[in-house]
Amino acid sequence: MKPLIAPSLLSANFANLQADIDMINRSKADWLHLDIMDGVFVPNISFGFPVIEAIAPLTRKPLDVHLMITQPEKFISRLQDLGVYMVNVHYEACLHLHRTLQEIKKAGMKAGITLNPHTPVVLLEDIITDADMILLMSVNPGFGGQRFIPQTTEKIARLKEMILRKNATALIEVDGGINLETAPLVVGAGADILVCGNSVFSVDNPEETIARLKEL
Ligand code: DX5
Ligand code: ZN
Repeated sequence: MKPLIAPSLLSANFANLQADIDMINRSKADWLHLDIMDGVFVPNISFGFPVIEAIAPLTRKPLDVHLMITQPEKFISRLQDLGVYMVNVHYEACLHLHRTLQEIKKAGMKAGITLNPHTPVVLLEDIITDADMILLMSVNPGFGGQRFIPQTTEKIARLKEMILRKNATALIEVDGGINLETAPLVVGAGADILVCGNSVFSVDNPEETIARLKEL
């Protein structure tokens, strides 16, 4: 199956976001991935609501929001107001994950659970059927342009096996170090959606790279 591609705005030119959003709109990208960092859950700060508010009306792709923040449940209604499609919260940041997923879905959005590289898939046994998506981090969250962690491939296969065994419908998204070399590995293991930051925004022809990633 061909993967969906979600370019990550973190690697865009922040001095001219309009140009990069226009490029994404023209491209074959399926979603736009937004990385929100609070400097507490991850050792970096990215952008927040003022930026999302500015770009939401400009983009024609569904917004896939990745919350790398503590207490993500505080922001569900503001994301709903902005017409966000998918809200990904970290397993490691949610004390009451089941409740948070239900609140996201009640607000009319899709609910995703994100796992850090060290968090085993087996912890999803009792929550997998409540999630619309599992976002597996293939780098430690906080920065773009890092190297893909190879164990992720096996982790995707284990997650895929759990989804099938539980009759769950969750999609699998992979985030970090995805490029034309690593994409075939993760798609072969069962990934449905690829987040691509550096590999899309650092090349001369991002639209062509997005098209090539989709054809893998
Ligand atoms: C990292 C973010 C990623 C990041 C991916 O914390 O979650 O979405 O933008 O960037 P690349 O594709 O460059 O690894
Ligand atoms: Zn991300």
